[in-house]
Amino acid sequence: MKIKLAELFPSCAIVVTADQAMWTTPLCDEEEKLIETAVQKRQQEFRAGRHAAHQALDQLSAPWQPLLRDEKRQPLWPTGFVGSISHCRGECVAVCAKAAELASLGIDVEPLEPLPKGVDQYIHTADDHATMQADNTLPERLIFSAKESLYKCFYPLIGEHMGFQSVSLNIDAENMSFDFIPSATSTIPFPAELKFHGRFMTSESHLYTGCYLTGS
Ligand SMILES: CC(C)(COP(=O)(O)OP(=O)(O)OC[C@H]1O[C@@H](n2cnc3c(N)ncnc32)[C@H](O)[C@@H]1OP(=O)(O)O)[C@@H](O)C(=O)NCCC(=O)NCCS
Repeated sequence: MKIKLAELFPSCAIVVTADQAMWTTPLCDEEEKLIETAVQKRQQEFRAGRHAAHQALDQLSAPWQPLLRDEKRQPLWPTGFVGSISHCRGECVAVCAKAAELASLGIDVEPLEPLPKGVDQYIHTADDHATMQADNTLPERLIFSAKESLYKCFYPLIGEHMGFQSVSLNIDAENMSFDFIPSATSTIPFPAELKFHGRFMTSESHLYTGCYLTGS
């Protein structure tokens, strides 16, 4: 079953799934330097993500530059562009867009499997727990994955850690979309002028979530 990952985002965003060669083909010197002491698995996923992101940026006619990162591992995109990367067990995706069209975006891929035992209590708020209980057709990692992509989407704007209990998700299973509500105790400065959009889809083996912000 071939899924259309591009449907997670509006058509101005370019989504690239890393092909096999991208996992092993070395990057430019500046990017390789970032993983010179990493284990092979980490080097491969980093290469796949950077190659996929370069391909997406290329399709947007972005000027080529090494994709370095900040101290929080956030990729540093060329001026005027936004993007996001995710990898897990042989699957790697990157999405990029012009900053004039989307204020930010986030993507996450997870295996279509339950979370490790006991982990959901740290990820799910009481409301998330009720959401998952109410619909047993929802992918078991949906809340986790959505919060990972949400974090990647907001981090470039907010620049601070969030924590999984800082939001609860509203899931629209029929439209395969999601939105979020900050928890009552949350002090995170979510930019009120931007509109959040979240979507999800599954393949036979993976769950994908994507989110983006519009309208500054
Ligand atoms: C940052 C984080 C999402 C990365 O997750 P991961 O398990 O490594 O999984 P993924 O493969 O999906 O994502 C990794 C990619 O995310 C990107 N990333 C990492 N930190 C990031 C940040 N602060 N902002 C945006 N993107 C970031 C990077 O591109 C990274 O890949 P790379 O190092 O090869 O470039 C995770 O470590 C984390 O901090 N999670 C907490 C999220 C959170 O608090 N959520 C609650 C929100 S309510």
